[in-house]
Amino acid sequence: MEISDLRREYSNLTLRRSSLLLNPFDQFRKWFNEAIEYPILEPNAMQLATTDCVTPSIRTVLLKGIETDAFVFYTNLHSRKALDLKRNNHASLLFFWREMDRQIIIEGTVERVSNADAELYFATRPRTSQIGAWSSHQGSSIDSRETLENKFKEFSEKFQGKKVPMPDFWGGFRLLPTRFEFWQGRPFRLHDRFSYTKDLDWKIERLSP
Ligand SMILES: Cc1cc2nc3c(=O)[nH]c(=O)nc-3n(C[C@H](O)[C@H](O)[C@H](O)COP(=O)(O)O)c2cc1C
Repeated sequence: MEISDLRREYSNLTLRRSSLLLNPFDQFRKWFNEAIEYPILEPNAMQLATTDCVTPSIRTVLLKGIETDAFVFYTNLHSRKALDLKRNNHASLLFFWREMDRQIIIEGTVERVSNADAELYFATRPRTSQIGAWSSHQGSSIDSRETLENKFKEFSEKFQGKKVPMPDFWGGFRLLPTRFEFWQGRPFRLHDRFSYTKDLDWKIERLSP
C-alpha cells in the first residue's frame, strides 16, 4: 500500500451555520462535551505550536481548564515551549478528534497562570506525577533511563511523609484566543469550516475547505 493511496471518506456529522453558537467558547464546550460522549479517548490532548520567532515547534500537552476567556495548560518552565513563549507569546492550539472527523484550531496570546493558581492545580495531581515533575528537567539531555529513575527515588525519599511542593521551574499558561476555527470533515472533501475572529464581538465566517 502506497502512502498516497491511504484515504477515507469523512463522516455523516455536519456543522451548519444555523447550529453555531455565537460565542466560540460555548461552541468549543459543546464540541468538547460531544467528544467526551462519543467517546474520544483523551479529548483534552491538544497540539501546542510555538515559535521563538525563527523556528516553529510543536508538541502535545493536556488542556487542564477552560475559563471564560482562556485555555489552560501546565508544563516545565525551562522547557522549549516555555522558553519560546517567553520570547514570543503568540501560540496556537490544535485538537484533532479523528473518530468524529473534527478539528479545532485556536490562536492567541499566552500569559502565565499565577503561582498561587498553579500551586492549587499542582496539589490536585497524583503524588507520583508531582514527584515526576521534580525528577525531570524537561528537554535536558540525560545519560540513561536509570538516571531518571534514580532521581525519582531520590525525590520520593526527600518528600517521604511530606506534602510535595510545586517546583519553582513548573507552572501554567493561559492562552487567550483571538481566533478559532472549527472544521468538520464531510464527504467529497466538501468540509464544513467556520472561523470566529475577535473584533468587538466574535465575527463568524464560513471558509472554503
Ligand atoms: C498525550 C500527551 C500529553 C502530554 N501532556 C503534557 C503536558 O500537559 N505538559 C507537558 O509539559 N508535556 C506534556 N506532554 C509531553 C510533551 O508533548 C513534550 O514532550 C514535552 O512537554 C516537551 O516539549 P518541549 O520540549 O517542546 O517543550 C504530553 C505528551 C503527550 C503525548
